[in-house]
Amino acid sequence: MEYPLLLEPITLAGRTVRNRVVHASMSTRYTQNQEINARLVRYHANRAAGGVGMIVTEPLNVLPWHDRSHRPALFEPNGLDALARWADAVESRGCRLLGQFQDSGRGHREAGRSQQAWAPSALPDDLSWTMPREMPRHRIHEAIEHFGKGARRLEEAGFSGVELSAGHGHLFHQFLSPAANIRDDEYGGDLEGRTRFVRELIQIITSNCKKDFIIGLKLPGADGIPAGIDHPESARITARLAEAGGFHYLVYCDGSHSNTLETHIPDMNYPRAPYVDGHTEIAANAPGVPLMALGLITDPAEAEGILSAGKAQMVALGRPLVTDAAWVKKSAEGRQSEIRYCVSCNTCWATIVERKPILCDNNPRLSQPDEVDYWPGPASSRRRVVVVGAGPAGLEAAWVAAARGHEVTVFGSSERPGGKAFLHAQLPGGENVSSVYDYQEMAAAKAGATVHLGFRAAVDDVRQCEPDVVVLACGASMLWPSGWPGEWRDFVFDVRDVSREMLERPEETIDGTAVLWDQDHTLATYAAAELLAQRFSRLVIVTPRERLASDVGLVTRQGIYRRLYGMPNVEIILLSDIHARSALDEGRVTCRNVLNGSLTDINDLALLTWSGSRAPNDELAAPLRAEGLEVLCVGDCDMPRTLLAATSEGHALGRSL
Ligand SMILES: Cc1cc2nc3c(=O)[nH]c(=O)nc-3n(C[C@H](O)[C@H](O)[C@H](O)COP(=O)(O)O)c2cc1C
Repeated sequence: MEYPLLLEPITLAGRTVRNRVVHASMSTRYTQNQEINARLVRYHANRAAGGVGMIVTEPLNVLPWHDRSHRPALFEPNGLDALARWADAVESRGCRLLGQFQDSGRGHREAGRSQQAWAPSALPDDLSWTMPREMPRHRIHEAIEHFGKGARRLEEAGFSGVELSAGHGHLFHQFLSPAANIRDDEYGGDLEGRTRFVRELIQIITSNCKKDFIIGLKLPGADGIPAGIDHPESARITARLAEAGGFHYLVYCDGSHSNTLETHIPDMNYPRAPYVDGHTEIAANAPGVPLMALGLITDPAEAEGILSAGKAQMVALGRPLVTDAAWVKKSAEGRQSEIRYCVSCNTCWATIVERKPILCDNNPRLSQPDEVDYWPGPASSRRRVVVVGAGPAGLEAAWVAAARGHEVTVFGSSERPGGKAFLHAQLPGGENVSSVYDYQEMAAAKAGATVHLGFRAAVDDVRQCEPDVVVLACGASMLWPSGWPGEWRDFVFDVRDVSREMLERPEETIDGTAVLWDQDHTLATYAAAELLAQRFSRLVIVTPRERLASDVGLVTRQGIYRRLYGMPNVEIILLSDIHARSALDEGRVTCRNVLNGSLTDINDLALLTWSGSRAPNDELAAPLRAEGLEVLCVGDCDMPRTLLAATSEGHALGRSL
């Protein structure tokens, strides 16, 4: 067995958990009208079937004033039977199910401000500037009572326990934090006061439930708020809570509702497992209480390494288990190369914050009945399929079609699979993007697809294959920016071409200024920008919008800003276009403000490049159709969009053949 420690059972509150892998709480936004619906239950049942030892649900509506429609409620409108069905769907598959208790307090991450917020003190949220009302004492007592009743109800319904989410900047965290809690009664002030709310919650759950009801605590590691909770403060909080006792595991999370929000879901620009060592040290203040390592742990070997080094006793995975419900099963069977690995792109988070059900770039079957260890069933008749393009859309269509029994030939013009995703994976912070096409390449080989790389297929090459259907997945190319003089075309190239060239000369640095005109606003553009900033003495990013990165989720944007503003040679000019009369031959670019027309010169120009709108590379479509062939365009080749669109549409197309 390759992962003996990961797969070893552990006992919490006297209950056996079959292995050390825990599904961290993940909001899915599957719920509507607070109902426990089939999709939500299936999401959890799939992960239980995929071998996870324990699952923590998303936060539940517990308190009478909890009325958020996207959260499953513990009481009305759900009867005990609905909760029991949810618990049974998980527990009957050998997995423990814990409900999460949380209240957002003043914390708010969607657009605007919370319209209904209570907090320990009337101080604004650091992110949304929501101004909460101070919780009067009787309301604190009421909340504790209701959470106690809620725990009993979970137990009655067959849940194995509860997790108190006292991190992420939510209400319990706000009580713990000296920056958010300036009360002068017994629930504020010193450590004793600030930990009282959480201690009383644990007490009431302990007294309302049986001894074997698991109580877990998610605590802040470092929240990054000035005068808030840093590691030493977290250690003191841990020690005080441990002294009072009553909980059965600990897990820590970093960040808060502020400019540090991105740290709670470290994206692919972070080092792997960035928090483990710090959290291990803090948790030493609760001797004997199992610690779950959490945060950007995507690989079973990494997880096993953490356990074998004694840094934690369990490993919690959030995003990686969204991406592959069978992560544990495949690890246990020695099939780790068949895991669809999390890209850590945070598309999942961006979708839920846009108030949509969760989506994943690398899991087109998320929450489907056949999601776990998915392999397509056979098609009714075998067809000959030619796929032109070996990027994420083409490869996804190819492996699924081949697995369905079709005879699939793929032509990819580059030497390596992945298309533009391959380029992104070579750029700073982009490495994890390869998870998408690595899986597809493996699955295509397993399914028996024939893949020809480094071959730009023409109409004749396709025709010679005598296909029944042709899938065009050739991606999209950047349009020449409107208004830029045509004579610049000889020496001004888009940022993809420029990046490719720079990657071929890894040692090269250039004296002078690179100007990147940005009308793209997606993650890959800023990865390319970082490369330019590393190589040129100065980088100026010019965009017609009022901010950069407007098409990526808040947490990803925070990281982009942190990195770009952290580079002393990067300048950003907002609300501006490149002026057509720029004197490139004199080493000067002029920016024109799109609102007032004012002009700004950028001198010392060494490079002008751009990232902008793209047009489909679908030139083969018309001639192939003229040959009488059925041609289907997919991904960017159909309409230029995102990686998410490429994988999901490629997948759907493969299934439809
Ligand atoms: C889409 C999404 C939703 C999340 N929802 C919750 C939540 O409701 N409650 C919670 O405590 N943590 C939530 N988290 C945080 C995760 O539990 C976990 O702490 C974080 O994702 C880091 O772990 P990972 O690197 O394994 O994903 C969420 C994270 C993501 C990406």
